[in-house]
Amino acid sequence: MLDAATLIGNRDMFPVLAHWAFFNHAGVAPLPRIATDQLRRYANQAQMQGYLNSSWYADIESLRKLCASLINAHRDEIAFIKNTSEGISIVAGGIDWQWGDLIVTTAVEYPANIYPWLEVVRSRGARLEMVPEQTMPDGSRQVPIEAILAAAADPRCRVVTLSHVEYASGQRHDLARIGAFCRERKIIFCVDAIQSVGVVPVDVQAMNIDYLSADGHKWMLGPEGAGIFYCRRELVEHTRPLMIGWMNVINPQSYGHYDYTLKSNAGRFECGTYNVPGLLGLLGALTLIDQVTVPLIYARVQQLLDHLVEGLTKKGYEIVSPREEPMRSGILSFKSHGHSHDQIVLKCREANIEIAKREGRLRAAPHFYNTEAQIDQLLSVLPFH
Ligand SMILES: Cc1ncc(COP(=O)(O)O)c(C=O)c1O
Repeated sequence: MLDAATLIGNRDMFPVLAHWAFFNHAGVAPLPRIATDQLRRYANQAQMQGYLNSSWYADIESLRKLCASLINAHRDEIAFIKNTSEGISIVAGGIDWQWGDLIVTTAVEYPANIYPWLEVVRSRGARLEMVPEQTMPDGSRQVPIEAILAAAADPRCRVVTLSHVEYASGQRHDLARIGAFCRERKIIFCVDAIQSVGVVPVDVQAMNIDYLSADGHKWMLGPEGAGIFYCRRELVEHTRPLMIGWMNVINPQSYGHYDYTLKSNAGRFECGTYNVPGLLGLLGALTLIDQVTVPLIYARVQQLLDHLVEGLTKKGYEIVSPREEPMRSGILSFKSHGHSHDQIVLKCREANIEIAKREGRLRAAPHFYNTEAQIDQLLSVLPFH
């Protein structure tokens, strides 16, 4: 059994700790050893015997179950995708749009949750309303939930589509409240959860989420290009797959007996051969996340971020991310008013500390295995105002 106490600062399990204070898990996470062990296992088996005697496909089905339990779904509601963009595109392309349907989102989404909808606007006559971010009385930047709900109250609103956690502010939306609002009005609720799954508890049932997409390479600690897509059971048969190949159908291995009947579970969204190494790596990483447990990971990351906020405030930095529940996340965005952000990122990198710069803000995104000492290292490199 893996537990947080033995994993924090553990260089054997997290080899990146040997050289880096890595705080960009909201970008692309370094792989833990348990994930690279799976990749090595794949490489060795593939090299020595190809698929013969491998358990790859059984392992992928175990992963499906694990992904389902991570977000409180059923395995029949999970499909594997190559990235978040693909999942959101399945939703955008799979709905029977009516001319004038309204799509509500925010004006600060990552583009993966904007362009698929702009394509719907272009080709299907839908409208897109993007609710802007505001500066709140406590100085944090947020898209107020009241403004999102007011936009979604339009009788033509068909879809609300949100990032669970906004990539540049770190704001976590109150999905339970928004989901309840949508379900009551039969509005489709679509969530980009790449910035939450693995670090923030997600419950698709309690949150009334209809569709969820998340690539595995951030907080889930998996390799790039292997992600998960959730489609609520009742919607599966009403959602047309985006791409069609040999695997979407009920009898994919009856090669010569063509029967274009789509699967009745989320497997209908998978069109062909899996990204086997990517999914095996993700299986390793999620086994670890599952054993440590997301609530514990969340609490630990908040501890690290509280420590960081305290130090940043003493040094005169402006905190952009909301720090109150239920809006906190794994992302802490902050600003310097006296120093160039580019210079700060560079100075950090020279000291083997990795943070990111997004939309005029600095962004720190530690995971549970980072240490307080590494946060202190970051604070010591950041200039005073
Ligand atoms: C909110 C959000 N959505 C999506 C992505 C990435 O999308 P994809 O998985 O399609 O590469 C990112 C990456 O930074 C992100 O922050």
